[in-house]
Amino acid sequence: MKIAIASDHAGFEVKQALCKHLRAAGREVVDHGCHEAVSCDYPDLAATAARSVAAGNEDVGILVCGTGIGVSMAANKVPGIRAAVVHDALTTEMSRRHNDANVLCMGARALGEAKCLELADLWLETAFEGGRHARRVGKIDALDGAPATGDSSPSP
Ligand code: RB5
Repeated sequence: MKIAIASDHAGFEVKQALCKHLRAAGREVVDHGCHEAVSCDYPDLAATAARSVAAGNEDVGILVCGTGIGVSMAANKVPGIRAAVVHDALTTEMSRRHNDANVLCMGARALGEAKCLELADLWLETAFEGGRHARRVGKIDALDGAPATGDSSPSP
């Protein structure tokens, strides 16, 4: 699995730590910047990584800013992207199991480095449940005109 990663200046140190951590675990990471801790605009970095995931260059993305909010707002403007800003193990796990999030957004200032590494591992290891959730995710995708991936089976 190929992972796109990006951050603004507020998430730079955590992004660097994530790159090192994920690569040490044998994962393939493409770093879309920023490449130094100099003030920059999170929509630019989020859009670059999200567009790359949407184009199929990477399978998933991980974005870091101060709160995770700005990068998630920007990434979700890209058709085909389902970006989730997470706060803890529950929201991280459910973003994969129920929402099939393809971009993980975290706040470096909100969570700190150790928690970001922990949640990234959990997110990458958690599978989408499919079933009724696939139908719902398909309806999310239909909102931006991207090909729907959901099925049409009724809710249990
Ligand atoms: C940068 O100061 C900060 O606004 C940004 O990292 C992010 O938290 C925005 O949502």
